[in-house]
Amino acid sequence: MRVTILVGTMTGTAQLCAQELELSWDGSGDSGGIQVETLLMDTLDSAVFAREGVFLVCTSTYGQGDVPDNARALYEDLKAKRPDLSRVRYGVFGLGDRTYAETFNFGGKRFDDILTELGAQRIGERVQHDASSGVLPEEMAAEWGSGWLAQARETAESSLT
Ligand SMILES: Cc1cc2nc3c(=O)[nH]c(=O)nc-3n(C[C@H](O)[C@H](O)[C@H](O)COP(=O)(O)O)c2cc1C
Repeated sequence: MRVTILVGTMTGTAQLCAQELELSWDGSGDSGGIQVETLLMDTLDSAVFAREGVFLVCTSTYGQGDVPDNARALYEDLKAKRPDLSRVRYGVFGLGDRTYAETFNFGGKRFDDILTELGAQRIGERVQHDASSGVLPEEMAAEWGSGWLAQARETAESSLT
């Protein structure tokens, strides 16, 4: 199974979470047959969703509940081109800060909403890390990641049968 992690970040925290996810999957003994690749969103457009396998959107939130600058082109391209993503299965690990009560974790929410609108199906719940909680985002990612990977595997297997 192939997993592509798509990283939207301003100051690198979401990228750190992606690295921890890769490490935890490698070290879990559970990685048999999985191939993980992490891509910064910077140069991507909606064509990235033509790749095989499942996707994990790992993104923070900025401005007035916006996606980070490096995620903007991908997000806008999805909204403009509106490709049919009914083959796509994805998860969302969102980063935010509850201090921004009105727009908490909107970066992940925006991707979740547009992907759903375009026919993609989410694997598991959308995660919302809260920077004001004291929980380290990379630890939360690694803990959550093993359950998500198991669900992703089930999804991949059931789509083969
Ligand atoms: C200027 C600024 C604006 C932010 N706006 C929001 C916001 O609207 N909603 C939210 O949930 N978090 C917001 N955050 C919090 C970040 O999303 C959070 O700190 C995140 O962990 C940063 O991850 P990154 O280093 O990958 O960009 C903001 C942070 C900064 C510095």
